[in-house]
Amino acid sequence: MGIKTSKLLALGCLAAISSGLIVTMTGCSSSEASSSTAGGITPRQFADGVHAVMMADRTVYATHVVTNLKKQEAPVTADEYWQDTENAIPLPAQMFRMGAELVDENPEAGFSYALRSKWPLNEQHQAKTDLEKEALDFLSENPGENFYGEEELGDKKYFVAVYPDRAVAEACWSCHNDHPNRGEDYPEFAKDDVMGGVLVRVPM
Ligand code: HEC
Repeated sequence: MGIKTSKLLALGCLAAISSGLIVTMTGCSSSEASSSTAGGITPRQFADGVHAVMMADRTVYATHVVTNLKKQEAPVTADEYWQDTENAIPLPAQMFRMGAELVDENPEAGFSYALRSKWPLNEQHQAKTDLEKEALDFLSENPGENFYGEEELGDKKYFVAVYPDRAVAEACWSCHNDHPNRGEDYPEFAKDDVMGGVLVRVPM
C-alpha cells in the first residue's frame, strides 16, 4: 500500500470537485478528503462503489435512452454498426467499452475496468489472465456471487473484483443468441443466466 493507495483513497473519499462533479462516500468526512490515508476505504469498497455507478449508468442508458427511443418509434435506434448507420447510437455494451477505453487512457483514473465473457461476441472481452479465467468459471458455477482476488502483473500487485453480468431482460438473450459472432460452443442464454462479468482492477 503506497502512493497508489492514497490516490485511491482521495478518489473514494469526497475527492473530485473538478468540473463540478462531487463524489462522496459513506465513512469519509470532508477532512479526510486530502491525500492522507486516514479513515480510507478498502480496494474492495472502492471496486463495489465504482461497479454500482457503472451498472447504474448502463441501466439508465438501456432503459431511458435505448428502450425509450424504441417505444416512441423514433427514427433513432441503437445499432451495433452505429458508426456506419444513419440515425444510430451505440449499444449499451459498446457505451460501456468506450467508457472503459477512455478511463484506460486517463492517467488520473488510477484503476481500470472491462467487460469479460467465456463466450465473447467481441474478442476484446476474452479473459486475459489466469485470474480472469478463474473468475469467469467461478461466476458461472456460483450464480449471484461476486469474485474477489489478487494478482501480480509485471511486478505490480492488483486487487481484482469481477461481478456477474446477468441476462436481466429478454433483449439480452435474444440479441446474443442470434448474433453472427457467436462461436460453436455458444450457449443458449436464458433469463438470469450469467452471460459474463464486469471486471474492476485496482493497483495495490
Ligand atoms: C442488440 C444486441 C444486444 C443486446 C440487446 C445486448 N447485447 Fe450484450 N453485446 C452485444 C454486442 C454486439 C457486444 C459486443 C460489443 C462490443 O463491441 O464491445 C456485447 C457485449 C456483451 C458482453 C461482453 C462479452 C461479449 O459478448 O463481447 C456481455 C457480458 C453482454 N454483452 C451482456 C449483455 C447483457 C447482460 C444484456 C442485457 C442487459 C445485453 N448484453 C444486451 C449485443 C447486445
